[in-house]
Amino acid sequence: MKVCGNPVINYRVMHTDDYARSVALWRECDGLGLRDSDSPAGIARYLARNPGLSFVAEREDRIVGTIMAGHDGRRGYILHLAVAAGERRGGVASRLVERCLAALAGEGIDKTHVHVIGDNCVGREFWLARGFHHRGEIELYSFVNGDNPDV
Ligand SMILES: CC(C)(COP(=O)(O)OP(=O)(O)OC[C@H]1O[C@@H](n2cnc3c(N)ncnc32)[C@H](O)[C@@H]1OP(=O)(O)O)[C@@H](O)C(=O)NCCC(=O)NCCS
Repeated sequence: MKVCGNPVINYRVMHTDDYARSVALWRECDGLGLRDSDSPAGIARYLARNPGLSFVAEREDRIVGTIMAGHDGRRGYILHLAVAAGERRGGVASRLVERCLAALAGEGIDKTHVHVIGDNCVGREFWLARGFHHRGEIELYSFVNGDNPDV
């Protein structure tokens, strides 16, 4: 659908077929840490384990925004929120977050976390603006099973 010559943005659930266009967007974005687990198989596994919780924003055939989420039955976790540079400050990310949090709430998840890389000032400002609060009292510790630090 086009409004005033500019095709509208369509928001929908992310599918495995969206991988190539999504990863192309992620690679353009500072502030997103991509790891080996973001391979096509890794993302397909994530989507299969967390159906209906990840979304894309699409303008015609371009993916201009993504958000992924999963939960462990208690807490939700958001990752890979990204909006194409030319589409920012128009509320795309906010709409993706709304859809994601509504889908998590539909599964009974009322508290959701997001990891923000320490120097990602834009990410920090965004999450604060969306009502997330900074958890300065928590440190993150990670264990790597095997020799690959980029897993
Ligand atoms: C962070 C990001 C997803 C925001 O996407 P967006 O579509 O521009 O966000 P929105 O338009 O919904 O912004 C909502 C609010 O967040 C805040 N915000 C967004 N971008 C901001 C910026 N560059 N500086 C300060 N505040 C910002 C503002 O309060 C904004 O409301 P306003 O435009 O009315 O002032 C986008 O900048 C991006 O993809 N960055 C690179 C990837 C990234 O860092 N992802 C987050 C990982 S934690």
